[in-house]
Amino acid sequence: MIATVLKRLGLTSDDPVAGLESRSGAGIHPVRTAAGTPAFLKVTPAALGPEARAAAERELRFYREIAPAVPLRTPRLLDVAEYVDARAAASAAGSNDEGADERAGGLALLLEAAGTTRDVRSWTPDLWTTLGRDLAALHDIPLPATWPRPDALTDALTEPDLPTTERFWAATLPRTADLIAARDSLAEAMAAVPPAFVHGDCHTGNLVVAGDTLIFLDWQVCGPGRPTTDLAFPAVRATPAGVAAPTGLIDAYLRHRRLDRASLNLALLAEELSTYVFQWPPFAAYNTRKGIDRVRHRAAHLATRWFAETC
Ligand SMILES: Nc1ncnc2c1ncn2[C@@H]1O[C@H](COP(=O)(O)OP(=O)(O)OP(=O)(O)O)[C@@H](O)[C@H]1O
Ligand SMILES: [Mg+2]
Repeated sequence: MIATVLKRLGLTSDDPVAGLESRSGAGIHPVRTAAGTPAFLKVTPAALGPEARAAAERELRFYREIAPAVPLRTPRLLDVAEYVDARAAASAAGSNDEGADERAGGLALLLEAAGTTRDVRSWTPDLWTTLGRDLAALHDIPLPATWPRPDALTDALTEPDLPTTERFWAATLPRTADLIAARDSLAEAMAAVPPAFVHGDCHTGNLVVAGDTLIFLDWQVCGPGRPTTDLAFPAVRATPAGVAAPTGLIDAYLRHRRLDRASLNLALLAEELSTYVFQWPPFAAYNTRKGIDRVRHRAAHLATRWFAETC
């Protein structure tokens, strides 16, 4: 499938297996343009379903409508291809599956190669400060009128998977049942900070470091949301690696945005704690025992703080 797109956009693959027709082509592929410039091809086959398609279209819309005016660095969008995979289309034509035809294609975004991401363990205090400043600038852009985006944490707070939550947390998290019962208060604390245009998947794996500049990748879930989504998530993702986001992140953010420090801190506490409690358990499977222990430790610390500050 990827071969169709490579041909269409005049690209050569830097990934030896990417050209194979047997691969679905989903994901990100290092490529070269006809001029030999390194780039990344981000491919979303329609077969991944409507949510994946909406995410790809949201990212495309971001690069077209928002990125040109956004006050932080993003890769340039070099090209776009809506493609149909000839082999999948042919097999769809011969099948009785009515949806097969629509699933035979996809959307591909060609992005300038921005550099490399940096392991969170080697992030310097200055980089965290830069992240705080850049997020403040992003959160100050005007909100677009219509821009649907998913909000997995709100979904998890509204309809929590209670058996999974209880099974994972009961043994180590102080007052798990009280936290489950405090979902409305947690959501209320988070909502105290006015909505802004957020990145939505802000962690160091989506940030290229170029000298002292950050280049923000992966805009699939951007749009109107809670500022604390972007401020808490880097910490959530850094915790299993044994890294705590320094306070310089929030200090820099507050230097560039006029917000009440106490409400922001409580909103951040609620956002990070809720993410661990209601969203994190299924991700434990992708972490080491040590990483899981660090998350348990961090969540326990935040839970204790939550009850000390709200009861
Ligand atoms: N334009 C780019 N320049 C440099 N590196 C890139 C670029 N686009 C993607 N990458 C690299 O590929 C990785 C995956 O890209 P991206 O996050 O956009 O895709 P994704 O499918 O949403 O991945 P994931 O689900 O892992 O977040 C990035 O973390 C980064 O290392
Ligand atoms: Mg990513």
